[in-house]
Amino acid sequence: MDKIFFDLISSRHSVRAFKNIPIPEEIIDSIINAAVKGPSSGNLQSYQIFIVSKITEKEKLVEAAHGQNYIREAPIVMIFCADPIRCSVEYGPRGEQLFSIQDATIACVYSQITAHDLGLSSVWIGSFDEEKVSDILKLKNNLKPIAILPIGFANETPQITTRRPIDQIIHKI
Ligand SMILES: Cc1cc2nc3c(=O)[nH]c(=O)nc-3n(C[C@H](O)[C@H](O)[C@H](O)COP(=O)(O)O)c2cc1C
Repeated sequence: MDKIFFDLISSRHSVRAFKNIPIPEEIIDSIINAAVKGPSSGNLQSYQIFIVSKITEKEKLVEAAHGQNYIREAPIVMIFCADPIRCSVEYGPRGEQLFSIQDATIACVYSQITAHDLGLSSVWIGSFDEEKVSDILKLKNNLKPIAILPIGFANETPQITTRRPIDQIIHKI
């Protein structure tokens, strides 16, 4: 594996405190451009991405995410939503229930890694009230929020997490 890439993914850690410093527009554009580069089922890109920077909306997201305050601190908060209907047209129930969620998840992963590469930090937030987030974003057409990603400049030294032993996970057959 390319060492530079391995170092990049190894040095990403969740950050839950952000500086009150705006993110330059060109960096936000790079993250957006990276988000859409991932694979998607049938290349349909069955997702929609919302970028929240208004404090009023961030406050609502904190409440929807059970008080996870770092959402408020981050200058931008990306929300990745699956588009099950778009995917179901091509792939039926599997597209609706699985592929669209995978498409949105991949877009979030690409965004998180790119943000890290550009010197920013983030934390993946999956613990939230889906209905409340849908209301805040005024989601239509059955869009389903999958992940909230606050992004900003780190204001803490992240905790270094460990991983399970490889032999508990990998099965060579
Ligand atoms: C699907 C998913 C849901 C997560 N939800 C939350 C969350 O709601 N709040 C939070 O603080 N971290 C959340 N995390 C972040 C994980 O806690 C974190 O990625 C994990 O502990 C590994 O740490 P690392 O990101 O520093 O490697 C979530 C991560 C994933 C992938």
